[in-house]
Amino acid sequence: MADLFHRPRRLRRTETMRALVRETRLAPEDFILPLFACAGEKVRREIPSMPGVHNLSVDEIAREAAAAAELGVKGIMLFGLPEAKDEAGSGAYHERGIVQQAVRAIRDSAPGLVIVTDTCLCEYTSHGHCGVVRDGEVLNDPSLELLARTAVSQAEAGADVVAPSAMMDGQVGAIREALDDAGFDQVAILAYAVKYASGFYGPFREAADSAPAFGDRRAYQMDAANTREAMREAELDYAEGADMLMVKPATCFLDILKTLREEFDLPIAAYHVSGEYAMIKAAAQNGWIDEERVMMETLTSIKRAGADIILTYYARDAIKLLRAG
Ligand code: PBG
Repeated sequence: MADLFHRPRRLRRTETMRALVRETRLAPEDFILPLFACAGEKVRREIPSMPGVHNLSVDEIAREAAAAAELGVKGIMLFGLPEAKDEAGSGAYHERGIVQQAVRAIRDSAPGLVIVTDTCLCEYTSHGHCGVVRDGEVLNDPSLELLARTAVSQAEAGADVVAPSAMMDGQVGAIREALDDAGFDQVAILAYAVKYASGFYGPFREAADSAPAFGDRRAYQMDAANTREAMREAELDYAEGADMLMVKPATCFLDILKTLREEFDLPIAAYHVSGEYAMIKAAAQNGWIDEERVMMETLTSIKRAGADIILTYYARDAIKLLRAG
């Protein structure tokens, strides 16, 4: 028999012992819940590939946000499905755009909630790309002006935080400058600093009807193979005035998350995206995995890797479980 002086199992014997030595703990305050606003009234349209997630008309989203706040959700991330799309994505920066309406309604129904708006054009453009398209190419600099307009109009509606996700170079700087010029120096920027061109956004594109009509997003979103480039993206957003940095998707990029956490002193967010949610749901619906266990294991791994904030469609379920103890 080996001389087993060291026995790590001593600290795993009971649940109370395990709780005492647990290194990472999820809290209800960790989560931001993404919500999708759409036109109409009394609309609650479930997204087929994302059971439990709905497209919600403004009246419904106001109610849903209030219920989430009641449950203990601290923040929401808003996306919009406009009634009409055009080349320039004008629904993104229209004063009465769908997200702007939703922000105003939620301000009333859930005053304390932190309202974050996704600042991008892809849900609003007829071609489904995140910027201005000319001759089959997504142009960088002309897109900046539209993204800045979008951010300002979201701030005017009452957003606390804008979250640029188009992956255009200089978008954080352009938005910071436009917000400050418009008197919104208190509106924060959560930068999708490290956003990979990912297959895990599939269900979202169904939810937001935002799949690109031609080509893909690889000419602006990042290559999943790159770490050093991720640091460069984060440094640029930091220098341009980002208040928080995000990594997206989460679980395939925990190494990136961890490195960002070590290198930067800003709050770091991770987006557990639609495909990551859909995979757990689908396997659970088949009876192949235990949904609650896999959900909590996944969210814990994201926090353990260094996320201060987790954006997840599971926010409510996780909070309910945490509250149940
Ligand atoms: C908009 C945007 C996307 C997501 C968040 N903001 C889609 C995309 O880049 O294609 C994905 C979120 C998810 O999959 O849950 N650019």
